[in-house]
Amino acid sequence: MTSTARSTPASTTQDSNKIPATLIAGDGIGPEIMDAVTAVLDALGAPFAWDRQHGGLAGIAEAGDPLPPATLDSIRRNRLALKGPLTTPIGGGFRSVNVRLREEFQLYANLRPAKTLVPGGRFDDIDLILVRENLEGLYVAFEHYIPIGDDPHAVAISSGVNTRDGSRRIVRYAFEQAVKRGRKKVTLVHKANVLKALTGVFLEAGQEVAREYQGRITCDDRIVDACAMQLVLNPWQFDVIVTTNLFGDILSDLIAGLVGGLGAAPGANIGDRAAIFEAVHGSAPDIAGKGIANPTALVLAAGLMLDHVGLTEQAEHLRRAIHLVLNQNRTRTGDLGGSASTGDFAQALIQRINAQR
Ligand code: NAI
Ligand code: MG
Repeated sequence: MTSTARSTPASTTQDSNKIPATLIAGDGIGPEIMDAVTAVLDALGAPFAWDRQHGGLAGIAEAGDPLPPATLDSIRRNRLALKGPLTTPIGGGFRSVNVRLREEFQLYANLRPAKTLVPGGRFDDIDLILVRENLEGLYVAFEHYIPIGDDPHAVAISSGVNTRDGSRRIVRYAFEQAVKRGRKKVTLVHKANVLKALTGVFLEAGQEVAREYQGRITCDDRIVDACAMQLVLNPWQFDVIVTTNLFGDILSDLIAGLVGGLGAAPGANIGDRAAIFEAVHGSAPDIAGKGIANPTALVLAAGLMLDHVGLTEQAEHLRRAIHLVLNQNRTRTGDLGGSASTGDFAQALIQRINAQR
């Protein structure tokens, strides 16, 4: 992965061996799974010095703001953050804090790997990487209503923005990931047959970048709807997928489903100035406070964070422990068909990590 956050640290701590990093526990199941993750990272000896900050509903409760200035300052300083899920109101209410964070720190790349953790599911041996453009497309949310008669919301209008530069940047990031991770193929996913301008520019820029990698990484392209079907019929034909913001959002949940659901899917938001690591899933209000959430996705996100700062060996150690806990101990949370609590799972991981020393 890129090591921008590590190569140009903007802050230091008293203990120069520690890596300062912002920690946002998040809403709903956030605090429960974050407790599990920090305990696991401690057992691993991960050298992060956590700077705990609020965000989301907790930010409103503590500081009257879903994204308090102190939280932004902390990320600006540390250039590195581990984040729990943040609740966003649907329809009205405040704008998604996640989207604001991505914009504030220009986190243009969203890396979402999906790898089979528990064999014997509906799809075995899945090992896909999805790279989602994180700043453009319909997520710019240039939206408004046109009132007609007494209906203030009679017409809803939204404009998407994709730039040639932004498209080149994200496709280049995907190809660089493919090179770094020994991958063979990058698939550009678009809807250029209908959204000829909005996603046509992405396809055009993508094909241009692909030519630079000719002979090293192959490239093909798919229309997003056909891609969704093919991901279900034969996911093994894909290797690295790169796509625009909204399609990436949808397809990354789809590929999380191929590997056993959201409890197992990590994500990294990468920019030149900062990197924020999180699970793909949200705050899961339906199971919050019950102690049954699966912390694996956030643990895997912490693994991506270790990769990012160059601690690949620790990251591998962590991933190996997860594999053993799931498949040898067979300690699994409810979403993966088991009965372990969040705490049981974390304890099993900690024991595995200690035993591997
Ligand atoms: P969700 O991902 O929170 O939950 C979807 C389903 O998956 C629920 O049934 C939930 O129980 C289950 N689930 C999610 N994570 C799990 C875990 N770790 N272990 C076991 N089961 C898990 O999606 P939903 O319900 O659509 O969104 C809830 C809130 O989260 C919303 O406010 C949404 O805006 C926010 N959200 C935040 C994200 C972030 O902070 N990056 C990402 C996605 C949603
Ligand atoms: Mg999503």
